[in-house]
Amino acid sequence: MSDPIFTAENVKQHYLIRQGMFADPIVLRAVDGASFVLNRGRTLAVVGESGCGKSTLARMVTMIEDPTEGRMTIDGSEILPGAASRDAVLRSRVQIVFQDPYGSLNPRQTIGKTLMEPLLINRKDVPAQERERRAREMLDLVGLRPEYFDRYPHMFSGGQRQRIAVARALMLDPEVLVLDEPVSALDLSIQSQILNLLVDLQDRLGLAYLFISHDLSVVRHVANEVMVMYLGKPVEQGPKDAVFAAPRHPYTKALMSATPTADPSRRQERIKLSGELPSPMAVPPGCPFHPRCWRASDRCRKDMPTLEGDAHRFACFNPIEA
Ligand SMILES: Nc1ncnc2c1ncn2[C@@H]1O[C@H](COP(=O)(O)OP(=O)(O)O)[C@@H](O)[C@H]1O
Ligand SMILES: [Mg+2]
Repeated sequence: MSDPIFTAENVKQHYLIRQGMFADPIVLRAVDGASFVLNRGRTLAVVGESGCGKSTLARMVTMIEDPTEGRMTIDGSEILPGAASRDAVLRSRVQIVFQDPYGSLNPRQTIGKTLMEPLLINRKDVPAQERERRAREMLDLVGLRPEYFDRYPHMFSGGQRQRIAVARALMLDPEVLVLDEPVSALDLSIQSQILNLLVDLQDRLGLAYLFISHDLSVVRHVANEVMVMYLGKPVEQGPKDAVFAAPRHPYTKALMSATPTADPSRRQERIKLSGELPSPMAVPPGCPFHPRCWRASDRCRKDMPTLEGDAHRFACFNPIEA
């Protein structure tokens, strides 16, 4: 069932951090080698604690920032550095929805204008009447009432605003949608409505999703594939069912044990990680997870494990038994 639309090969984003005029800059490896494929009609979920590089990855995929290193393709063509700033059509193929439905909408603009704006900027050939027709159609597609067209963002609830943000992201008919914590700011009851809307839109439009979340219960609901990140590196990656049924990396296992579950057959002992998340400017040598890992051996303190395996891959010398 794979139908690739977007690929990333060993992409990295390194920032130089200056700490004073005379000190050498420190390299912050926000993303340090991620490879994945996004398929049409499918969802890759990226999970990990705050600061592990999820949003940085999102900015590279949406071509807001060029990677420091690595290769990305869309529909078989390589995305060259700087291409997004030169090529509006290319950029429009990947759109993003952010966590905060308040910050991403202009408070002084009606919903109708907000929806028509991407066409006004990027598709000047589309006549005004057609622009309005498409915006009204999109409003309907995301489950909002026609009269909302002339209203302003402050008149809506968080869930409705997120529907508007999704509608806006879809106005240019993208093939890839990056969703950066799209339901994290919403009440639990609203979260499932928005998740259902996203699943429905994906089915109808054949969209590929890069779905970012720190919440594994959300990921379990939407993902086909999962990528778990720790300090900028993917540590476990594979089909959702395989990863959830038998996590192999201790970090994945710990994340899962911290996620509440209503199903008693899945209840498990909670693993408490020792120590704090290290600063990404001082990543521990060897396996970056070793200082917090209850399975760490001498080798883990010296050597860096790489992702191994076929469909289900994990970077660990002492993986959890399948
Ligand atoms: N523009 C930037 N310049 C320097 N450091 C950055 C920049 N953007 C993100 N970072 C750092 O990169 C790391 C990953 O950040 P981010 O991608 O936002 O993580 P997440 O979305 O998983 O919380 C963090 O340590 C963050 O402080
Ligand atoms: Mg983030």
